[in-house]
Amino acid sequence: MSDKLRIGLIGCGGIAGAHLSAYQNSGLAQVVAVSDIDEAKASALAAKAEATAYTSYMEMIEKERLDAVSLLTPPHNHRQIAEEVLAAGVPIFSEKPLAKTVADSQAMVDAARRTGKLLLVAQCHRFHEPVRRAKALIENGDLGKIVNYRNRFGYVAGTPDARTRGRGGILLDNGSHSSYLFRYLVGEVKSVFGWAPANQRGAIEDLCVCTLLLESVDGPAGIIELDGASKPCPNAIEVFGEKGAVVIDYSSGKSFFKPATGDPVELNDPSLPGAHRFDREVLHFLRCVRGEEEPEIGAEEGLADVRVLQAAYASMNSGKAELVTG
Ligand SMILES: NC(=O)c1ccc[n+]([C@@H]2O[C@H](COP(=O)([O-])OP(=O)(O)OC[C@H]3O[C@@H](n4cnc5c(N)ncnc54)[C@H](O)[C@@H]3O)[C@@H](O)[C@H]2O)c1
Repeated sequence: MSDKLRIGLIGCGGIAGAHLSAYQNSGLAQVVAVSDIDEAKASALAAKAEATAYTSYMEMIEKERLDAVSLLTPPHNHRQIAEEVLAAGVPIFSEKPLAKTVADSQAMVDAARRTGKLLLVAQCHRFHEPVRRAKALIENGDLGKIVNYRNRFGYVAGTPDARTRGRGGILLDNGSHSSYLFRYLVGEVKSVFGWAPANQRGAIEDLCVCTLLLESVDGPAGIIELDGASKPCPNAIEVFGEKGAVVIDYSSGKSFFKPATGDPVELNDPSLPGAHRFDREVLHFLRCVRGEEEPEIGAEEGLADVRVLQAAYASMNSGKAELVTG
């Protein structure tokens, strides 16, 4: 009998394949069941995973004796699903953003505390090797005092459509990565100024291009550009300190630490085994379920990001910087 953890996937859309591969690559788990309200999607992924397909996640939970699930549905229904699944005693690895609103995110944090079950947020970029190395350099003082930050994320191409709207629009979708990375590399956010074209501000889901100016509690500020329209949209993070800078370029795959004097140091190492960020984040989740590691990104982190993003959206409509409270 296998001692692998029994995993279920809730939601069989775009990101589900990455979770399935990562569980398969982990050697610690087997995806035994998948569920989607769209029967065709559930059946297709079940065939690929050699798992059982369900159209009801609660039926899957009741029948499969799962050790954990990945929550891969759009953010607007994360709260309801998480509350039910946690109450059934099953740990959750939830895709970002944790939820669509601060209230829903807080309810999920509360549900995890109430049930004592794990609720981790899938912030894959934390597990990207250059980001981890950048964090170590910053903590080690190699960049000196951080003075500036810039991050640009976008979709590969395209304008808002049903799928990008379903994922909450670019502010909640890619912005949840950006908020987390700023908080991880620079510090907690004190205030945020957000700008978006007037015709995209009516609903948060309509946002396709926007710019955020984040002020950290400790002083340094940063600019975040979220761009779901331009082609190509280079994805990059830059952290500037008094003694050096870090440039993480996802588009070219080239990432460097550039000290004020001396040669640049490469931050990536594609030869590392299991180096892909999706594999690493899933491995971390599984080790947390097994009690071997402490969660690096609990639900509180997801709540903190949704607070930043909600304040950013409020700023886009108020025209002034908004404090991030909570
Ligand atoms: N970490 C990353 O890099 C990354 C990349 C892509 C998406 N995501 C996140 O993953 C989540 C899903 O994104 P996606 O691109 O896969 O979206 P998607 O629209 O392609 O897929 C979502 C799936 O959930 C299903 N679903 C909806 N309600 C359901 C329910 N009640 N029960 C079961 N299934 C249900 C839909 O039918 C659909 O198949 C979002 O939160 C998104 O932000 C993260």
